[in-house]
Amino acid sequence: MDWQEARAQFAACRRGIAYLNTGALGLISDRVADAEAAWKEYVREYGRASPSVLGCIENGAQAAFGDGPGGAARTWVGVNRLSERLADLMHVGDSQMYFTANTTDGMARASASLRWAPGERLLITDAEHNSVPANARDAASEHPISIDVAKVQDLFGEKDFEQKWIDAIVDKVAANTRLVVVSEILWHLGLVLPVPELVRRCKVKNPSTVVMVDGAHTLGQLEVNVQGLGCDMYATAGHKWLCAPSGSGVLVVTNELNDRKDFRLRIRRAWGEPESGRRAARAVDPSWGRESTSQIDWSAVQESTLIGLGAALDSYEELGVAAVAERVRYLATAAVERLSTVKRISVLPGAGAPRQTGIVAFAVDGVTNREQAGALVDQLERRFKVACRWVGDPPLVRACFHYHNNEDDIEALRRGLSELL
Ligand SMILES: Cc1ncc(COP(=O)(O)O)c(C=O)c1O
Repeated sequence: MDWQEARAQFAACRRGIAYLNTGALGLISDRVADAEAAWKEYVREYGRASPSVLGCIENGAQAAFGDGPGGAARTWVGVNRLSERLADLMHVGDSQMYFTANTTDGMARASASLRWAPGERLLITDAEHNSVPANARDAASEHPISIDVAKVQDLFGEKDFEQKWIDAIVDKVAANTRLVVVSEILWHLGLVLPVPELVRRCKVKNPSTVVMVDGAHTLGQLEVNVQGLGCDMYATAGHKWLCAPSGSGVLVVTNELNDRKDFRLRIRRAWGEPESGRRAARAVDPSWGRESTSQIDWSAVQESTLIGLGAALDSYEELGVAAVAERVRYLATAAVERLSTVKRISVLPGAGAPRQTGIVAFAVDGVTNREQAGALVDQLERRFKVACRWVGDPPLVRACFHYHNNEDDIEALRRGLSELL
């Protein structure tokens, strides 16, 4: 499949929409939508919990009843296979994977799973997505702990920001810092952060500190290598860059952490006993671990989401992880160059840097509050069919380039901004 064929799979692209908001929610391709719809129809026809339907969810199959609804034979990737593929794709190593609702949900469950002792500390930075401080506040309202915030936001414009980012965070790691949460890719500026070195330094300073990585923007955009990061937990989701349905969150927890007495994973569903330990946690998981799908609580899982996730993975793997990463960087670099001619715009750090991703953010002279930013983004969509969003305070405009985008989308953005500003 080449880029043009990949683009043609998306109805929004065929309608001429320059969709630059993958960082919020990825587009759903025909392949994913068709797979989900076919599954829903199949389940309606043959019964949701018929043994053969459950077997089909687990192991994947050609429709268990011959040709299936409408006479068309279909194959589905079973959850077992899906689990293996995701584990391989994300290089999870000696870990368990759990399905969650989304990244935020995964991080919330993960931080609620720590047995906090009074006086312990939770460390985040001031450059995290809102969901991170929100989860931290929840933890601090439920336990007698404090939150530390490393100030890193102003460092990203500096040339050697990587080292400064690491130092600013490690500096705040104390003997009683229980959890550190950092992003792998900055949600507003799109920079990839040097997480492996950060994890190493945090563990040197306090070996019992748990490091959780917010990987919301990595899966489907750049290679995910959980083992390579060295973190204890990794939360991500398929609904952004993997272009999978909503509800396809993934949480990875290392077996080492899962086995610790001061950690008990808070993923509880109707089936199974609420025992401690990873085996029990997996058994009551709404989702699945690598070894066991037989105890998935189907009442809690949107099966069609899994089917859609499988189809989204098919497309991603056909295109190739490295090729997609190269493509998004190419488009982002081209966009930065093209936008440099537009007056009143300053493209922010990240763009053009070696650590750049497909996310491009820019400040607009005179756009200083959310009303102005919202109006600009609305006009871009209404008049120029460009879908993007503003982020942060003061607001930046963020454009996300994915494999289905092309030069026409960059031009639509440039033209829209040139005419509006
Ligand atoms: C860095 C980052 N973390 C977490 C989230 C929340 O992601 P989700 O929608 O998967 O909960 C976002 C959403 O944009 C994000 O950008």
